[in-house]
Amino acid sequence: MTVLVTGGAGYIGSHTCVELLNKGCEVIVVDNLCNSSPKSLERVREITGKSVTFYEGDVRSEALLEKIFGSHSISCVIHFAGLKAVGESVAMPRQYYENNLNSTLTLVKVMERVGVKNLIFSSSATVYDPANEMPLKETSPTGNCTNPYGWTKFMTEKILSGVCRADKEWSVALLRYFNPIGAHPTGRIGEDPRGIPNNLMPYITQVAVGRREKLSVFGNTYDTPDGTGVRDYIHVVDLAKGHVAAVDYVTKNAGCEVFNLGTGTGYSVLDMVHCFMDANRVAVPYVIAPPRAGDVATLYADPSKTEKILGWKAELTLEDMCRDSWNWQKNNPMGYEE
Ligand code: NAD
Ligand code: UFG
Repeated sequence: MTVLVTGGAGYIGSHTCVELLNKGCEVIVVDNLCNSSPKSLERVREITGKSVTFYEGDVRSEALLEKIFGSHSISCVIHFAGLKAVGESVAMPRQYYENNLNSTLTLVKVMERVGVKNLIFSSSATVYDPANEMPLKETSPTGNCTNPYGWTKFMTEKILSGVCRADKEWSVALLRYFNPIGAHPTGRIGEDPRGIPNNLMPYITQVAVGRREKLSVFGNTYDTPDGTGVRDYIHVVDLAKGHVAAVDYVTKNAGCEVFNLGTGTGYSVLDMVHCFMDANRVAVPYVIAPPRAGDVATLYADPSKTEKILGWKAELTLEDMCRDSWNWQKNNPMGYEE
């Protein structure tokens, strides 16, 4: 089977390419490299012994997509391409709406024209209404997003579910990721954020490797066991395998289905710091800082629907996540930059 992966040079995309190639799929990647390095795809080849076909360009280019669909017999598309930084989306809303919505609209338009109607979309737990009770089920209320990035995911879900309602030939899986961390166990591909990391794990690894002085723990008076924020961290390799399961599902079913990709277990910021230090025997100095605007106390998934329907379940532990994140960072202190 041939799968088109948009944004395949990025963090989650590159790990998904590995799992697809390992399953024997042919993989085509389109990525404009606005937040990634082509080295990730060279390393995907190194890990798997197989190559992806790479098109450098923008998913918003109809002509490029026409060319790709005209040159390959594509069965299914996994759509990762998009901008993803919450804070940046508040500062640059137009660019976020333009990139994230127009890329999907152009992709769907071309897919419709060429008759390829199987699509997997990278959504996020951020679409859930912050007022929800935990754990979050796919049926929990969505909306009341706190930033433009979240709204692009919410709106894209609406666009794709509307497309499926109107044309019964479409098959779409909306995958709501919780907090992806970790890296491939080889240490050859991993998360390589530009500038100062916004997310917890890349910040921890950059402190551990000496690129940053100390971690700021954002708030310790939340209503959680130790007062720090609780999240559902999921190993990126488990997440990538969830996409392989979704490819199988969308190519055999029709309609639009939502799936949570999380472990179902929440860990606090201090749990993460301590697990990281214990698993890797490395120090992570930290200070308690004020809470970050927009953060909720606790967020974790109910992944039971995903297990029941996709037959997928996260298998790797928090220790695996901490070990593999560190293995990537210590072997690539500056990410893909030499
Ligand atoms: P990433 O930035 O590493 O990967 C996204 C890739 O898309 C990058 O390689 C980038 O160059 C490319 N891209 C962006 N706009 C493009 C365009 N218009 N045309 C072509 N390529 C384009 O991010 P990631 O962490 O791998 O996330 C992948 C997807 O998953 C994103 O849609 C993101 O919003 C979503 N997601 C990520 C997380 C997370 O915590 N990492 C959580 C929930 C959802
Ligand atoms: N945190 C710190 N210090 C840091 C960074 C984070 O204490 O330097 C804390 C946060 O306050 C939070 C936890 O670590 O309690 C996790 O924060 P992240 O930024 O790693 O992740 P978020 O849960 O805030 O955000 C993630 C994705 C978003 C997505 C959101 C909701 O990064 O894209 O989940 O699903 F929108």
